[in-house]
Amino acid sequence: MIKTSLYGLMSALTGALDMMSPQLAGHHRQVAYFMLRMGEQLKLKREELKDLVVAGLIHDIGALSADQLLAIIENEEISENDHGFRGAKFAEMFSTFSGIADIIKYHHHPWQDGAGAFFEGNPVPTGAHYINIADYVCSFMGVHGYTMEARKKLVARVQRNTPSRFEPGAAAAVAEMINKEYIWLDLKNNHYEESLESIIGDLTLDLDAIEEITLMFSKIIDFRSRFTARHSAGVARIAEALARLVGFSETECKLMLIAGYLHDIGKLAVSNDILEKTGSLDAKELDIIRSHTYYTYRLLEKIPNFETINTWAAYHHEKLDGTGYPFGLDARDLPCGSRIMAVADIATAILEDRPYRAGLNHEQTANIMNNLVASGAIDGNIVKILISNIERIDEIRIKTQSEADNLYENFYPPEFKNAY
Ligand SMILES: [Fe+2]
Ligand SMILES: [Fe+2]
Ligand SMILES: [Fe+2]
Repeated sequence: MIKTSLYGLMSALTGALDMMSPQLAGHHRQVAYFMLRMGEQLKLKREELKDLVVAGLIHDIGALSADQLLAIIENEEISENDHGFRGAKFAEMFSTFSGIADIIKYHHHPWQDGAGAFFEGNPVPTGAHYINIADYVCSFMGVHGYTMEARKKLVARVQRNTPSRFEPGAAAAVAEMINKEYIWLDLKNNHYEESLESIIGDLTLDLDAIEEITLMFSKIIDFRSRFTARHSAGVARIAEALARLVGFSETECKLMLIAGYLHDIGKLAVSNDILEKTGSLDAKELDIIRSHTYYTYRLLEKIPNFETINTWAAYHHEKLDGTGYPFGLDARDLPCGSRIMAVADIATAILEDRPYRAGLNHEQTANIMNNLVASGAIDGNIVKILISNIERIDEIRIKTQSEADNLYENFYPPEFKNAY
C-alpha cells in the first residue's frame, strides 16, 4: 500500500504555487512558519496548531494570480468572490482539510471589535483571524526587512489596526514575539523546513487520501484558465481506463489516475498569457510551454514514494524515438505507464472542446494517433487498444469533463469570467 507524507505533498503544492506568483515565492511557507511560532506563543494545543500550520501552507490557493492576491491584501472587505472563498472550495474537496476550509475562507475577514467572529451569521473560526495577522506580518516584514526597527514599526501598525482588523490576543502575541530574534532571522533566511516538519511531518496519507488531495491539485491546475479547465480530468480518466484495459492492477490504475491529475502540475510555472494564446507561439514562448514537464518532474520528485507516479506523469511528452522532452528518453526507458499517459494526453487534447475550437471526432482522432504511431512517437499497441475501445473511453471522458465544467462554473460563474 502506498503512503506518503502530507508535508511532502504540501511542499510540492506550495512549490508550484510559488512558481505561479514569483513575487510571492515562499509566502505560504512563511505564513505557516509564523503561524507555528505565534501558535506556540498563544499556547495553542498541538492538534489545533497542526490545522493552522496546514491552513497557512495553502491559505491563498484560491488566488490564481499575484495581481489578484495583492489586490485582496489591500482591500479589507471580503466577499463570496474573493480568493478565500474559492480556496475554501478547493480545501473542501479533501476530507482531511474539511476542518481548515473555514479558516481559509475567512482569512481576510477583519475582527471588527469582535463582530468578526461571525460573517453574515456564520461563525468564523478564530484560526482565520490568526492566519489574517500572520499573513499581514509576513507581507509587512517582506517589504520592510526584518530589523528591530521594522519590527517596532510592525507592532505599532498592528496596534493601530487592533481591534478593528486584528484579534487582540493574536496582536498581543505578535508584540511579545518581536524580541525573539531567531523567528525573524528564520523568516529572513527562509528557514522553515525543520520547524514545519516537526509539527506536521508525522501526518501520512494513504492511497485514497492521495487520490483526494491530488484531485484538488488537479482543479487548481486546471481552473487557472478556462482553456485548460477540463484537461487534467479528461487525461486522468482516459489514462486510468487504458491502464485497466492493458491489465494493470486496481492499485496501479489508481496510481495512473493520480499521475493523470498531476501530469501538468508544472504548467503552474507557465503564465496565463502563454496558456491562453490561441495564435502561434514564438520560440521563447514555446520554450516556456515545453518546460512544464520538467517542472512536473522536479515538483513530484520531492514527494516520498512518488517515483512511479512521477515517471508516469512527467514523461508524457517523451517519445519512443527519443525526440521528446525534457529528458529525451527513448523506448528503452519509457515504461508502459508513461506510454499510456502520452497516449491519454494526446487523445484528450484531440477529443476535447477548447474555447477556440470544437473537439474532433473519433475517426479523425484515430487518424492522427495512427500517424503518430507511424512516425515513431507513441506506442502502437496502446493506440490500438484506445481505438478499439474509443466509444467507451470517450464516454468516460465526456462524463468527467462535463462534471469538471459544472464545477468550474461553480468556481467562476459566467459574470466573473472576464475578471480572471
Ligand atoms: Fe490571502
Ligand atoms: Fe497570503
Ligand atoms: Fe503536457
